[in-house]
Amino acid sequence: MAAPKKLYIKTYGCQMNVYDSERMAEAMGSAGYVETEDPAEADMILLNTCHIREKAAEKVYSELGRFRALKDEKPDLKIGVAGCVAQAEGAEIMRRQPLVDLVVGPQSYHRLPQMEAQVRAGQKALDTDFPLEDKFDTLRHRPKARRGPTAFLTVQEGCDKFCAFCVVPYTRGAEVSRPAARVLEEARDLVERGVREITLLGQNVNAYHGAGAGGDWSLARLIWALSDIDGLERIRFTTSHPNDMDDDLIAAHGACAKLMPYLHLPVQSGSDRILKRMNRKHTAEGYLRLIERIRAARPDILISGDFIVGFPEETEADFQATLDLIEAVGYGQAFSFKYSTRPGTPAAERPQVAEAVKSERLHRLQALITRQQRAVQETMVGRTVGVLFERPGRMPGQMVGKSDHLHAVHVTGSGLGVGDLARVEIVESGPNSLGGRIVAA
Ligand code: 5AD
Ligand code: SF4
Repeated sequence: MAAPKKLYIKTYGCQMNVYDSERMAEAMGSAGYVETEDPAEADMILLNTCHIREKAAEKVYSELGRFRALKDEKPDLKIGVAGCVAQAEGAEIMRRQPLVDLVVGPQSYHRLPQMEAQVRAGQKALDTDFPLEDKFDTLRHRPKARRGPTAFLTVQEGCDKFCAFCVVPYTRGAEVSRPAARVLEEARDLVERGVREITLLGQNVNAYHGAGAGGDWSLARLIWALSDIDGLERIRFTTSHPNDMDDDLIAAHGACAKLMPYLHLPVQSGSDRILKRMNRKHTAEGYLRLIERIRAARPDILISGDFIVGFPEETEADFQATLDLIEAVGYGQAFSFKYSTRPGTPAAERPQVAEAVKSERLHRLQALITRQQRAVQETMVGRTVGVLFERPGRMPGQMVGKSDHLHAVHVTGSGLGVGDLARVEIVESGPNSLGGRIVAA
Protein backbone atom coordinates (compact mmCIF):
# COMPACT_ATOMS: atom_id res chain seq x y z
CA MET A 1 0.00 0.00 0.00
CA ALA A 2 1.23 3.49 -0.81
CA ALA A 3 2.27 5.61 2.18
CA PRO A 4 -0.44 8.14 3.07
CA LYS A 5 0.09 11.66 1.82
CA LYS A 6 0.59 14.33 4.45
CA LEU A 7 -1.57 17.38 5.01
CA TYR A 8 -0.50 20.44 6.97
CA ILE A 9 -3.28 22.85 7.94
CA LYS A 10 -2.63 26.23 9.50
CA THR A 11 -5.68 27.88 11.04
CA TYR A 12 -6.18 31.61 11.52
CA GLY A 13 -9.03 33.55 13.10
CA CYS A 14 -12.12 32.37 14.87
CA GLN A 15 -13.25 29.13 16.52
CA MET A 16 -15.39 28.31 13.50
CA ASN A 17 -12.20 28.08 11.47
CA VAL A 18 -10.80 25.62 14.04
CA TYR A 19 -13.93 23.50 13.59
CA ASP A 20 -13.76 23.82 9.78
CA SER A 21 -10.10 22.74 9.75
CA GLU A 22 -11.07 19.54 11.60
CA ARG A 23 -13.78 18.88 9.00
CA MET A 24 -11.34 19.56 6.13
CA ALA A 25 -8.82 17.14 7.65
CA GLU A 26 -11.56 14.49 7.78
CA ALA A 27 -12.60 15.18 4.19
CA MET A 28 -8.98 14.89 3.06
CA GLY A 29 -8.62 11.71 5.11
CA SER A 30 -10.99 10.09 2.64
CA ALA A 31 -8.64 11.25 -0.15
CA GLY A 32 -5.73 9.39 1.54
CA TYR A 33 -4.22 12.15 3.64
CA VAL A 34 -3.08 12.12 7.25
CA GLU A 35 -2.35 15.32 9.16
CA THR A 36 1.14 16.50 10.02
CA GLU A 37 2.37 19.28 12.30
CA ASP A 38 5.39 19.93 10.09
CA PRO A 39 4.94 21.87 6.84
CA ALA A 40 8.34 20.61 5.61
CA GLU A 41 7.06 17.04 5.28
CA ALA A 42 3.67 17.96 3.80
CA ASP A 43 2.39 16.99 0.34
CA MET A 44 -0.31 19.57 0.70
CA ILE A 45 -0.48 22.77 2.74
CA LEU A 46 -3.80 24.44 3.47
CA LEU A 47 -4.08 27.87 5.05
CA ASN A 48 -7.50 28.34 6.63
CA THR A 49 -7.69 32.11 6.60
CA CYS A 50 -9.46 35.00 8.32
CA HIS A 51 -10.57 38.22 6.62
CA ILE A 52 -12.14 40.03 9.57
CA ARG A 53 -9.38 42.67 9.80
CA GLU A 54 -6.81 43.88 7.30
CA LYS A 55 -3.80 42.50 9.16
CA ALA A 56 -5.28 39.01 9.12
CA ALA A 57 -5.29 38.92 5.29
CA GLU A 58 -1.80 40.42 5.00
CA LYS A 59 -0.44 37.70 7.29
CA VAL A 60 -1.70 35.09 4.82
CA TYR A 61 0.22 36.60 1.92
CA SER A 62 3.45 36.80 3.89
CA GLU A 63 3.00 33.19 5.07
CA LEU A 64 2.45 32.06 1.46
CA GLY A 65 5.70 33.77 0.46
CA ARG A 66 7.55 31.67 3.03
CA PHE A 67 6.38 28.45 1.34
CA ARG A 68 8.28 29.28 -1.87
CA ALA A 69 11.46 27.53 -0.63
CA LEU A 70 9.47 24.40 0.30
CA LYS A 71 7.86 24.27 -3.11
CA ASP A 72 11.25 24.74 -4.86
CA GLU A 73 12.55 21.73 -2.93
CA LYS A 74 9.45 19.65 -3.51
CA PRO A 75 7.72 20.54 -6.79
CA ASP A 76 4.85 18.11 -6.05
CA LEU A 77 3.84 20.10 -2.98
CA LYS A 78 0.37 21.59 -3.44
CA ILE A 79 -0.67 24.79 -1.68
CA GLY A 80 -4.25 25.77 -0.96
CA VAL A 81 -6.00 28.75 0.59
CA ALA A 82 -9.31 28.17 2.36
CA GLY A 83 -11.48 30.33 4.60
CA CYS A 84 -12.70 33.90 4.38
CA VAL A 85 -9.73 35.39 2.49
CA ALA A 86 -10.30 32.68 -0.15
CA GLN A 87 -13.97 33.68 -0.34
CA ALA A 88 -13.29 37.40 -0.51
CA GLU A 89 -10.31 37.41 -2.89
CA GLY A 90 -11.00 34.32 -5.02
CA ALA A 91 -8.82 34.07 -8.13
CA GLU A 92 -6.97 37.25 -7.11
CA ILE A 93 -4.99 35.10 -4.65
CA MET A 94 -3.54 33.00 -7.49
CA ARG A 95 -2.72 36.14 -9.47
CA ARG A 96 -0.97 37.74 -6.53
CA GLN A 97 0.73 34.52 -5.40
CA PRO A 98 1.12 32.10 -8.36
CA LEU A 99 2.42 29.27 -6.16
CA VAL A 100 -1.14 28.78 -4.87
CA ASP A 101 -2.80 25.75 -6.53
CA LEU A 102 -6.18 25.74 -4.86
CA VAL A 103 -8.62 28.33 -3.49
CA VAL A 104 -11.71 27.15 -1.62
CA GLY A 105 -14.37 29.22 0.17
CA PRO A 106 -16.01 28.17 3.47
CA GLN A 107 -19.19 26.85 1.84
CA SER A 108 -17.36 24.47 -0.51
CA TYR A 109 -15.18 22.37 1.81
CA HIS A 110 -17.07 19.19 0.95
CA ARG A 111 -15.70 19.56 -2.58
CA LEU A 112 -12.06 19.46 -1.41
CA PRO A 113 -11.35 15.83 -2.38
CA GLN A 114 -12.40 16.50 -6.02
CA MET A 115 -10.39 19.70 -6.02
CA GLU A 116 -7.37 17.81 -4.71
CA ALA A 117 -7.60 15.38 -7.65
CA GLN A 118 -7.74 18.36 -9.98
CA VAL A 119 -4.56 19.93 -8.58
CA ARG A 120 -2.79 16.53 -8.61
CA ALA A 121 -3.56 16.47 -12.35
CA GLY A 122 -1.63 19.72 -12.65
CA GLN A 123 -4.53 22.15 -12.84
CA LYS A 124 -5.51 25.03 -10.61
CA ALA A 125 -8.74 24.61 -8.63
CA LEU A 126 -11.04 27.41 -7.51
CA ASP A 127 -14.42 27.12 -5.76
CA THR A 128 -16.02 30.06 -3.98
CA ASP A 129 -19.64 29.14 -4.70
CA PHE A 130 -22.46 29.23 -2.20
CA PRO A 131 -23.83 25.84 -3.34
CA LEU A 132 -27.38 24.74 -2.77
CA GLU A 133 -26.39 21.40 -1.28
CA ASP A 134 -25.58 21.32 2.44
CA LYS A 135 -21.86 20.91 2.97
CA PHE A 136 -22.52 19.39 6.40
CA ASP A 137 -24.31 16.46 4.75
CA THR A 138 -20.97 15.40 3.29
CA LEU A 139 -18.71 16.77 6.00
CA ARG A 140 -20.23 14.46 8.59
CA HIS A 141 -18.27 13.51 11.65
CA ARG A 142 -17.33 9.89 11.13
CA PRO A 143 -17.18 7.94 14.39
CA LYS A 144 -13.48 7.32 14.90
CA ALA A 145 -10.59 8.31 17.13
CA ARG A 146 -10.99 9.40 20.78
CA ARG A 147 -11.17 13.12 21.30
CA GLY A 148 -10.09 15.51 24.03
CA PRO A 149 -12.67 16.59 26.63
CA THR A 150 -13.83 19.73 24.78
CA ALA A 151 -15.10 20.24 21.23
CA PHE A 152 -16.66 22.84 18.96
CA LEU A 153 -19.82 22.10 17.02
CA THR A 154 -21.10 24.46 14.31
CA VAL A 155 -24.90 24.82 14.48
CA GLN A 156 -25.39 28.01 12.50
CA GLU A 157 -23.34 29.79 9.92
CA GLY A 158 -23.44 33.14 8.15
CA CYS A 159 -25.08 36.41 9.07
CA ASP A 160 -27.89 38.63 7.80
CA LYS A 161 -27.18 41.55 10.12
CA PHE A 162 -24.80 43.57 7.92
CA CYS A 163 -23.06 45.59 10.61
CA ALA A 164 -21.44 48.41 8.62
CA PHE A 165 -17.86 47.33 9.46
CA CYS A 166 -18.12 43.58 8.95
CA VAL A 167 -17.21 41.25 6.06
CA VAL A 168 -18.89 38.15 7.54
CA PRO A 169 -22.20 38.47 5.63
CA TYR A 170 -20.13 38.54 2.42
CA THR A 171 -17.60 35.80 3.23
CA ARG A 172 -19.78 33.33 5.16
CA GLY A 173 -23.00 34.18 3.36
CA ALA A 174 -26.60 34.28 4.55
CA GLU A 175 -27.65 32.87 7.91
CA VAL A 176 -28.23 29.11 7.77
CA SER A 177 -29.07 26.79 10.71
CA ARG A 178 -28.37 23.07 10.71
CA PRO A 179 -31.32 20.76 11.48
CA ALA A 180 -31.58 19.94 15.20
CA ALA A 181 -31.39 16.17 14.61
CA ARG A 182 -28.01 16.56 12.84
CA VAL A 183 -26.64 18.63 15.69
CA LEU A 184 -27.82 16.11 18.29
CA GLU A 185 -26.37 13.22 16.29
CA GLU A 186 -23.00 14.94 16.03
CA ALA A 187 -23.07 15.79 19.75
CA ARG A 188 -23.78 12.16 20.70
CA ASP A 189 -20.93 11.01 18.49
CA LEU A 190 -18.56 13.50 20.16
CA VAL A 191 -19.62 12.33 23.63
CA GLU A 192 -19.03 8.68 22.66
CA ARG A 193 -15.52 9.71 21.69
CA GLY A 194 -14.78 11.26 25.10
CA VAL A 195 -16.05 14.84 24.77
CA ARG A 196 -17.64 16.27 27.94
CA GLU A 197 -18.01 19.92 26.95
CA ILE A 198 -19.41 21.24 23.68
CA THR A 199 -19.28 24.84 22.49
CA LEU A 200 -21.99 25.52 19.93
CA LEU A 201 -20.68 27.79 17.20
CA GLY A 202 -22.31 30.29 14.90
CA GLN A 203 -21.58 33.83 13.68
CA ASN A 204 -25.03 34.60 15.10
CA VAL A 205 -25.54 31.50 17.17
CA ASN A 206 -28.45 32.82 19.20
CA ALA A 207 -30.37 33.43 15.97
CA TYR A 208 -30.34 29.63 15.54
CA HIS A 209 -33.63 28.38 14.08
CA GLY A 210 -32.91 24.85 12.85
CA ALA A 211 -35.60 22.49 11.61
CA GLY A 212 -36.71 20.11 14.37
CA ALA A 213 -39.62 18.07 15.60
CA GLY A 214 -42.71 20.28 15.65
CA GLY A 215 -41.17 23.13 13.62
CA ASP A 216 -38.12 25.36 13.90
CA TRP A 217 -36.16 25.08 17.14
CA SER A 218 -34.66 28.03 18.97
CA LEU A 219 -31.18 27.87 20.47
CA ALA A 220 -32.76 27.47 23.93
CA ARG A 221 -34.72 24.43 22.77
CA LEU A 222 -31.59 22.93 21.21
CA ILE A 223 -29.63 23.47 24.44
CA TRP A 224 -32.34 21.75 26.50
CA ALA A 225 -32.31 18.76 24.13
CA LEU A 226 -28.49 18.59 24.28
CA SER A 227 -28.62 18.70 28.06
CA ASP A 228 -30.45 15.32 27.99
CA ILE A 229 -27.37 13.60 26.53
CA ASP A 230 -25.76 11.50 29.26
CA GLY A 231 -22.04 12.14 29.54
CA LEU A 232 -22.28 15.64 28.10
CA GLU A 233 -21.57 17.78 31.15
CA ARG A 234 -21.14 21.30 29.84
CA ILE A 235 -22.67 23.40 27.09
CA ARG A 236 -21.46 26.78 25.85
CA PHE A 237 -22.29 28.88 22.79
CA THR A 238 -20.69 31.73 20.87
CA THR A 239 -21.09 34.36 19.29
CA SER A 240 -24.36 36.12 20.05
CA HIS A 241 -26.03 39.34 18.92
CA PRO A 242 -27.88 41.33 21.63
CA ASN A 243 -31.06 41.52 19.54
CA ASP A 244 -31.35 37.72 19.38
CA MET A 245 -31.20 37.09 23.15
CA ASP A 246 -34.76 35.84 23.57
CA ASP A 247 -36.57 35.15 26.87
CA ASP A 248 -36.18 31.38 26.60
CA LEU A 249 -32.42 31.63 26.19
CA ILE A 250 -32.15 34.02 29.14
CA ALA A 251 -34.30 31.64 31.21
CA ALA A 252 -32.10 28.68 30.20
CA HIS A 253 -29.15 30.49 31.74
CA GLY A 254 -30.98 30.38 35.05
CA ALA A 255 -32.47 26.90 34.79
CA CYS A 256 -30.25 24.61 32.71
CA ALA A 257 -27.51 23.22 34.96
CA LYS A 258 -25.32 22.16 32.03
CA LEU A 259 -25.36 25.60 30.41
CA MET A 260 -22.24 27.34 31.72
CA PRO A 261 -22.39 30.81 33.35
CA TYR A 262 -20.46 32.59 30.60
CA LEU A 263 -21.88 34.73 27.82
CA HIS A 264 -20.01 36.39 24.98
CA LEU A 265 -22.27 39.27 23.99
CA PRO A 266 -20.48 41.84 21.82
CA VAL A 267 -21.72 45.45 21.90
CA GLN A 268 -18.88 47.07 19.84
CA SER A 269 -19.53 50.63 21.11
CA GLY A 270 -21.30 52.45 23.93
CA SER A 271 -22.29 55.47 21.84
CA ASP A 272 -25.78 55.49 20.32
CA ARG A 273 -24.55 57.73 17.51
CA ILE A 274 -21.88 55.17 16.57
CA LEU A 275 -24.14 52.15 17.16
CA LYS A 276 -26.53 53.67 14.64
CA ARG A 277 -23.77 54.25 12.09
CA MET A 278 -22.62 50.66 12.74
CA ASN A 279 -26.14 49.45 11.87
CA ARG A 280 -26.27 47.50 15.14
CA LYS A 281 -30.01 48.17 15.59
CA HIS A 282 -29.81 48.53 19.38
CA THR A 283 -28.84 51.27 21.83
CA ALA A 284 -26.36 51.29 24.69
CA GLU A 285 -29.26 51.53 27.15
CA GLY A 286 -31.01 48.55 25.50
CA TYR A 287 -27.84 46.51 25.91
CA LEU A 288 -27.48 47.47 29.59
CA ARG A 289 -31.12 46.52 30.30
CA LEU A 290 -30.52 43.19 28.57
CA ILE A 291 -27.45 42.50 30.73
CA GLU A 292 -29.60 43.25 33.79
CA ARG A 293 -32.20 40.69 32.71
CA ILE A 294 -29.54 38.07 32.05
CA ARG A 295 -27.99 38.70 35.46
CA ALA A 296 -31.39 38.46 37.11
CA ALA A 297 -31.66 34.94 35.65
CA ARG A 298 -28.08 33.95 36.49
CA PRO A 299 -26.45 36.39 38.94
CA ASP A 300 -22.90 35.02 38.67
CA ILE A 301 -22.76 34.90 34.85
CA LEU A 302 -19.48 36.17 33.42
CA ILE A 303 -20.03 38.65 30.59
CA SER A 304 -17.57 38.88 27.72
CA GLY A 305 -17.59 41.39 24.86
CA ASP A 306 -16.04 42.72 21.66
CA PHE A 307 -15.21 46.38 21.10
CA ILE A 308 -14.16 48.37 18.07
CA VAL A 309 -12.37 51.69 18.69
CA GLY A 310 -11.89 54.38 16.06
CA PHE A 311 -14.93 53.47 13.98
CA PRO A 312 -15.39 56.19 11.27
CA GLU A 313 -16.45 59.54 12.79
CA GLU A 314 -15.97 58.32 16.40
CA THR A 315 -15.33 61.39 18.57
CA GLU A 316 -13.71 61.53 22.01
CA ALA A 317 -17.24 61.84 23.49
CA ASP A 318 -18.36 58.70 21.63
CA PHE A 319 -15.33 56.84 22.91
CA GLN A 320 -16.01 58.08 26.45
CA ALA A 321 -19.52 56.61 26.15
CA THR A 322 -17.93 53.23 25.38
CA LEU A 323 -15.75 53.49 28.50
CA ASP A 324 -18.86 54.41 30.52
CA LEU A 325 -20.71 51.36 29.22
CA ILE A 326 -17.76 49.14 30.11
CA GLU A 327 -17.72 50.63 33.62
CA ALA A 328 -21.43 49.91 33.95
CA VAL A 329 -21.21 46.28 32.79
CA GLY A 330 -18.04 45.01 34.50
CA TYR A 331 -16.64 42.60 31.91
CA GLY A 332 -14.92 39.39 32.90
CA GLN A 333 -13.37 39.06 29.46
CA ALA A 334 -13.19 41.22 26.32
CA PHE A 335 -11.65 41.43 22.89
CA SER A 336 -10.94 44.87 21.47
CA PHE A 337 -9.80 46.00 18.07
CA LYS A 338 -8.89 49.13 16.17
CA TYR A 339 -11.38 49.64 13.38
CA SER A 340 -9.96 48.18 10.18
CA THR A 341 -11.37 49.29 6.79
CA ARG A 342 -12.80 46.35 4.86
CA PRO A 343 -13.29 47.09 1.16
CA GLY A 344 -16.91 46.62 0.09
CA THR A 345 -18.40 47.36 3.52
CA PRO A 346 -20.37 50.64 4.05
CA ALA A 347 -18.09 51.97 6.81
CA ALA A 348 -15.08 51.87 4.50
CA GLU A 349 -16.57 54.86 2.62
CA ARG A 350 -16.95 57.05 5.74
CA PRO A 351 -14.45 59.62 7.10
CA GLN A 352 -11.76 57.67 8.95
CA VAL A 353 -10.23 58.27 12.37
CA ALA A 354 -6.45 58.83 12.48
CA GLU A 355 -4.37 55.76 13.28
CA ALA A 356 -2.64 57.44 16.25
CA VAL A 357 -6.03 58.30 17.77
CA LYS A 358 -7.21 54.69 17.37
CA SER A 359 -4.06 53.39 19.04
CA GLU A 360 -4.38 55.76 21.95
CA ARG A 361 -8.07 54.85 22.50
CA LEU A 362 -7.37 51.13 22.25
CA HIS A 363 -4.70 51.51 24.89
CA ARG A 364 -7.07 53.26 27.31
CA LEU A 365 -9.88 50.80 26.68
CA GLN A 366 -7.64 47.79 27.20
CA ALA A 367 -6.29 49.22 30.46
CA LEU A 368 -9.85 49.49 31.77
CA ILE A 369 -10.76 45.98 30.59
CA THR A 370 -7.63 44.51 32.21
CA ARG A 371 -8.60 46.09 35.54
CA GLN A 372 -12.11 44.65 35.25
CA GLN A 373 -10.92 41.19 34.27
CA ARG A 374 -8.61 41.08 37.30
CA ALA A 375 -11.39 42.30 39.59
CA VAL A 376 -13.83 39.66 38.31
CA GLN A 377 -11.14 36.96 38.59
CA GLU A 378 -10.46 37.98 42.19
CA THR A 379 -14.12 37.57 43.13
CA MET A 380 -13.61 33.86 42.42
CA VAL A 381 -11.20 33.41 45.35
CA GLY A 382 -12.98 31.53 48.14
CA ARG A 383 -15.66 30.18 45.80
CA THR A 384 -16.10 26.54 44.79
CA VAL A 385 -16.57 26.04 41.04
CA GLY A 386 -16.57 23.17 38.56
CA VAL A 387 -13.33 22.59 36.64
CA LEU A 388 -12.88 20.35 33.59
CA PHE A 389 -9.23 19.33 33.32
CA GLU A 390 -7.75 19.67 29.82
CA ARG A 391 -3.98 19.15 30.11
CA PRO A 392 -1.05 18.66 32.48
CA GLY A 393 0.52 21.91 33.70
CA ARG A 394 4.19 22.90 33.70
CA MET A 395 4.86 21.88 37.32
CA PRO A 396 5.12 18.21 38.30
CA GLY A 397 1.73 16.79 39.32
CA GLN A 398 -0.09 19.89 38.09
CA MET A 399 -3.27 19.79 35.99
CA VAL A 400 -4.84 22.73 34.16
CA GLY A 401 -8.48 23.08 33.25
CA LYS A 402 -11.29 25.58 32.71
CA SER A 403 -13.76 26.69 35.33
CA ASP A 404 -17.48 27.04 34.69
CA HIS A 405 -16.74 30.74 34.05
CA LEU A 406 -13.98 29.81 31.58
CA HIS A 407 -11.10 30.87 33.80
CA ALA A 408 -7.93 28.79 33.54
CA VAL A 409 -7.49 26.94 36.85
CA HIS A 410 -4.45 24.93 37.99
CA VAL A 411 -4.42 22.33 40.72
CA THR A 412 -1.42 20.36 42.01
CA GLY A 413 -1.18 16.83 43.41
CA SER A 414 -4.83 15.99 42.79
CA GLY A 415 -4.21 12.65 41.06
CA LEU A 416 -6.85 13.67 38.50
CA GLY A 417 -6.35 13.31 34.76
CA VAL A 418 -7.37 14.89 31.47
CA GLY A 419 -11.16 14.80 31.06
CA ASP A 420 -11.89 14.68 34.80
CA LEU A 421 -14.43 17.12 36.14
CA ALA A 422 -14.11 18.23 39.77
CA ARG A 423 -15.41 20.73 42.29
CA VAL A 424 -12.53 23.05 43.08
CA GLU A 425 -12.16 25.69 45.75
CA ILE A 426 -10.34 28.70 44.31
CA VAL A 427 -7.54 29.74 46.67
CA GLU A 428 -5.51 32.25 44.64
CA SER A 429 -5.74 34.57 41.65
CA GLY A 430 -2.62 35.01 39.50
CA PRO A 431 -2.04 37.19 36.43
CA ASN A 432 -3.37 34.64 33.92
CA SER A 433 -4.99 31.89 35.94
CA LEU A 434 -6.54 30.82 39.23
CA GLY A 435 -5.09 28.33 41.67
CA GLY A 436 -7.38 25.86 43.41
CA ARG A 437 -7.72 22.73 45.54
CA ILE A 438 -10.03 19.81 44.90
CA VAL A 439 -13.13 19.68 47.09
CA ALA A 440 -14.79 16.74 45.35
CA ALA A 441 -13.85 14.74 42.25
N1 5AD B 1 -12.47 46.21 12.20
C1 5AD B 1 -12.19 45.91 13.49
N2 5AD B 1 -12.82 44.92 14.17
C2 5AD B 1 -13.77 44.23 13.53
N3 5AD B 1 -14.56 43.22 13.93
C3 5AD B 1 -15.33 42.85 12.90
N4 5AD B 1 -15.08 43.60 11.82
C4 5AD B 1 -14.11 44.48 12.18
C5 5AD B 1 -13.43 45.53 11.52
N5 5AD B 1 -13.69 45.85 10.24
C6 5AD B 1 -14.54 42.70 15.29
C7 5AD B 1 -15.90 42.87 15.98
C8 5AD B 1 -16.45 41.47 16.00
C9 5AD B 1 -15.18 40.66 16.11
C10 5AD B 1 -15.29 39.23 15.72
O1 5AD B 1 -14.27 41.31 15.27
O2 5AD B 1 -15.66 43.34 17.30
O3 5AD B 1 -17.35 41.24 17.06
FE1 SF4 C 1 -20.50 40.75 11.55
FE2 SF4 C 1 -21.50 39.83 13.89
FE3 SF4 C 1 -22.49 42.11 12.76
FE4 SF4 C 1 -22.97 39.70 11.64
S1 SF4 C 1 -23.68 40.45 13.68
S2 SF4 C 1 -22.35 41.58 10.55
S3 SF4 C 1 -21.02 38.63 12.03
S4 SF4 C 1 -20.38 41.78 13.58
